[in-house]
Amino acid sequence: MQDKNKGWSGRFSEPVDALVKRYTASVTFDKRLAEFDIQGSLAHAAMLAAQGIIGQDDLAAIERGMAEIRDEIRSGSFEWLLDLEDVHLNIEKRLTDKVGDAGKRLHTARSRNDQVATDVRLWLRAKVDEILSLIRALQLSILDLAEAHADTVMPGFTHLQVAQPVTFGHHLMAYFEMLKRDAGRFADARRRINRLPLGAAALAGSGYPVDREMVAHSLGFDGVCENSLDAVSDRDFAIEFTAAAALVMTHLSRFSEELILWSSPRFGFVDIADRYCTGSSIMPQKKNPDVPELVRGKTGRVNGHLVALLTLMKGQPLAYNKDNQEDKEPLFDTADTLTDTLAIYADMLRGVKVDKEAMRRAVLEGFATATDLADYLVKKGLPFRDAHEAVARAVRHAESKDCDLADLPLEELKQFSALADEDVYAVLTPEGSLASRRHLGGTAPERVRQAIAKARTELG
Ligand code: ARG
Repeated sequence: MQDKNKGWSGRFSEPVDALVKRYTASVTFDKRLAEFDIQGSLAHAAMLAAQGIIGQDDLAAIERGMAEIRDEIRSGSFEWLLDLEDVHLNIEKRLTDKVGDAGKRLHTARSRNDQVATDVRLWLRAKVDEILSLIRALQLSILDLAEAHADTVMPGFTHLQVAQPVTFGHHLMAYFEMLKRDAGRFADARRRINRLPLGAAALAGSGYPVDREMVAHSLGFDGVCENSLDAVSDRDFAIEFTAAAALVMTHLSRFSEELILWSSPRFGFVDIADRYCTGSSIMPQKKNPDVPELVRGKTGRVNGHLVALLTLMKGQPLAYNKDNQEDKEPLFDTADTLTDTLAIYADMLRGVKVDKEAMRRAVLEGFATATDLADYLVKKGLPFRDAHEAVARAVRHAESKDCDLADLPLEELKQFSALADEDVYAVLTPEGSLASRRHLGGTAPERVRQAIAKARTELG
């Protein structure tokens, strides 16, 4: 039985089962590709006309019809039909309704297989550009906070135990570095996304004299996908994008974990602005860091999308299989989650208030300058392993007296090493410890300021 709505019903003898129709349709989510679908169709049609495959009058009719359809979609008046399966058939049917045979000629030398791969690449390229500018905005926000805290002493942790003093600015700049690599990954993925599948048709290419370079050029692609089977079937570019997104989320999840810890009353290092927190409906005293918690939670969702896409691909023989229709929802959700997270994060950091005193107190509680004392003894001639042992005993002693190393009188310090002198107290302060680490990549305030200045130049 013929279903006149369809682009493919000619060979079928019964209509598709209602549940199957819903199961196989993608229009509910792929309508999001509409603008790019139209863009791709216009470039394809212009090429067909330039090559004499369709007439100039057909091209003019297609352009007129597509302009109207674009307006309908933008204004929300376009009627999406599940019967028409996906974004491609919906738009093509509407075009044909408007301009007749010219609309039916649009699909010459094309398949939905190369069409959808083109649409997704165009969509993703725009997303990458948006993400790159959002990462940049977040980096700028980090730089501002780091600059304000280039001298702020805080404990650096290993194993979540106080390890050595660092500056808060230095700590923040670690995230700047992560985001810099993240931006590099997106820029790199963009080069592979930005290739044209059109011309591959269903899988084997087209028997018409198509000019793929012309279409690539008009759509702003850097070139064409050079194997027709590969062009319609692989989604590695989507997987790369999602992997890069999962890494950004993972970095921000770590940052979030720190904000959650630091804003808890036990740490009390930072206060997150109220607009990023919520209260408890039962415990009146609570202010919960919901946004960082959700960033941490949503990282699981993006990581899941990465696994979904890898799994989607792994069993597919060449070339196109309908499995690939399942690439869209994970991809869309990955991009949405990431863009929202980046935008929120940049602003949330502007609302972070730092309690410098709390940070400093925590440094003093943790024997954070023990390594500096060992280094001091080494500089006076003691082998490092012996210095390590001497300081370990001094720490045990200070612990039993419930005081910091800097609070021990010189006679007591001398019991652990006779090499200790009055000048030892200069290295036992957090500031002394910081100042000594002034090499490239170190935490000395002057170095942190240099790193920030360099970062600002790089960001332009
Ligand atoms: N909706 C399909 C997808 O997302 C479009 C391509 C369909 N191709 C086909 N031969 N059924 O992949």
